[in-house]
Amino acid sequence: IRAHLTIDPHFEVGVVNRRLFGSFVEHLGRCVYDGIHEPSHPTADEHGFRADVVELVKELGVSTVRYPGGNFVSGYRWEDGIGPREERPRRLDLAWHSTETNEIGLDEFATWLEKVGGEMMYAVNLGTRGVLEALDVLEYANHRSGTRLSDQRVANGHPEPHNIRMWCLGNEMDGPWQLGHSTAEQYAQLAAATASAMRQVDPDLELVVCGSSSAQMPTFGEWERVVLEKTYDNVDYISCHAYYEPKGEDYGSFLASAVNMDRFIEAVVATADHVKAIRGSDKSINISFDEWNVWYQSRYQEVERITDVDNWPVAPRLLENSYSVLDAVVFGNLMISLIRHADRVTAASLAQLVNVIAPIMTEPGGPAWRQTTFFPFSLTSSHARDVALELKLDSPTYDTELYGTVPLVDAVATHDANGGGTTVFAVNRSLTEEVTLEIDTLALGGVSRAEATSVFDEDIHAANTLEDPDRVRPRQNTSVELGEGTVRITLPPVSWTVLTLE
Ligand code: AHR
Repeated sequence: IRAHLTIDPHFEVGVVNRRLFGSFVEHLGRCVYDGIHEPSHPTADEHGFRADVVELVKELGVSTVRYPGGNFVSGYRWEDGIGPREERPRRLDLAWHSTETNEIGLDEFATWLEKVGGEMMYAVNLGTRGVLEALDVLEYANHRSGTRLSDQRVANGHPEPHNIRMWCLGNEMDGPWQLGHSTAEQYAQLAAATASAMRQVDPDLELVVCGSSSAQMPTFGEWERVVLEKTYDNVDYISCHAYYEPKGEDYGSFLASAVNMDRFIEAVVATADHVKAIRGSDKSINISFDEWNVWYQSRYQEVERITDVDNWPVAPRLLENSYSVLDAVVFGNLMISLIRHADRVTAASLAQLVNVIAPIMTEPGGPAWRQTTFFPFSLTSSHARDVALELKLDSPTYDTELYGTVPLVDAVATHDANGGGTTVFAVNRSLTEEVTLEIDTLALGGVSRAEATSVFDEDIHAANTLEDPDRVRPRQNTSVELGEGTVRITLPPVSWTVLTLE
C-alpha cells in the first residue's frame, strides 16, 4: 500500500505556538499529592517536589500548565491554598469525592513551574463564585505590592508577582456534573462581567471563555454562539475539550479520532467567525484546546464508588489510565490535528500531566516512569518548528463505524525557514498493513539527511508499567530512503512517526 505526500514550504498554515504543548495539573487523585509533590520521596527537594518528576516534565517539553482544575475549580476557594500551611483548612472536594488538604496552592505551584520552566494558566471559579473572587486572585497573583492581597503574597514569600497571562473563566460550565452548572445565557453574563472587571486591572490579560465540554454535548454549537455573542470583545480564546476511547473493539474508528477532532475544531472556528461576522468585528477568537487526551472514561469510574462522605480520601488513585501503543498512536494523531490548525488553535493542554490520565506515572516512595503517550508528546514538542504547512496528501482510505470513510495515513509538517529543517509527523491507521509513504520534497530544494523515529509494536496493547517501565520505547525507523527530490519511508501498521528532513 502506498500513500503520497507533497511538501511545499510556501503553503503555510500558521506559526506553531509553543503554547500548543501545554498540559494540565488539577487537584485530582494523585496528580498534585504523590504526583508532583511527595515530601517523603527520596528525590524530594526542599519544597517537597519530586525531582524525578521535574526531570520527566522537562523532558516531555511542556509549556503552559493549566491549574488548579478542571471540575475541582468549581468548588475551590483559592485563598485556602495560601499562607502558613498549618493554618490551611481541609475541605470536601465535591468534584472528586476527596478531601483536599490545601498543602499545595497557587504560590507552591508557581514555585514548581519555575523548576520545570513552565507558564501558569490559571482557572478561576465561576461555578460557585464570581467576579469579586476572580478579581481577588488576580490582585494576589499579579499586582506588584501595596494592596492588602498583593502584600499578602509578598509576606507569603513571593515578592515578585506571578504575572499570570492566561486565565480560564471557569471550567465546563455547560456540563450538568459541574458545580454551579448553568445555561449558556447565565454563564455568558457572568463570564462577560468577570472578563471586563479583570481587564480593568490589566487590559492585556489573555482570557479563555468556556466552550462546550465536548462536541457531543446537546448544546454544542449553540453554547459557543451564545457565549461568544455576549463575551466577544472581552475574551481572546474559546475552549475546546475532547477525550477519546475505543468503543468495544472498534479500533478502526478509534484510530480515526483525529478526524473527529478536526471537525470539532473547524465547527468551533466556524461558529466564532459567524459571531465575528454578525458583530462586524475585525478581531478573531482563537481556540484554547485546554483538555484533550485518550481517556477510557467508561473504565475509570472510581469516583462514583467513593460514597462515604465522612471518609472521603486524600489523593486517592483516580483516573490512573494505563496507555497502550494503540493509544499512543491515536494520541500522536490528535497532536497532528492540533498542529494542522495552528492558525486558530493557539493554545492546548494535554489533560493531564502526572498520574491522572497522564504521560507520567509515579509510585509513592518509588520510581516515576513514562507512559506510551509520553513519546509522541515529547517528540512533537521537540521537533515541531516555526510554521505548520498545508500538505497535499493522497492516501488510501478505509471505512469506519463512527466517522465514515477516512484516510489510512494522516500527516502534518512543520518548517523552519531559518535553517531548522522540515519535520513530518505521520500516522498509519491500518491495523494490519504497512504503508509506504512517498514524499515529494522538490519544493524544499534539496534534502541531504532524513531520519525517522516511530512508535509501534507487534503487540498494539503493550504498555509501560511499574513492573516493566521500559517495555515500549520509540524506535529508529531505518526504512527511510533518500531519492532525487523524494523521500520514502515505511510506516508500520498502527504507528506514529516523526521524520526530520535537512
Ligand atoms: O481532566 C479530567 C476532567 O475532565 C476535568 O476535571 C474536567 O474539566 C473534565 O470533564
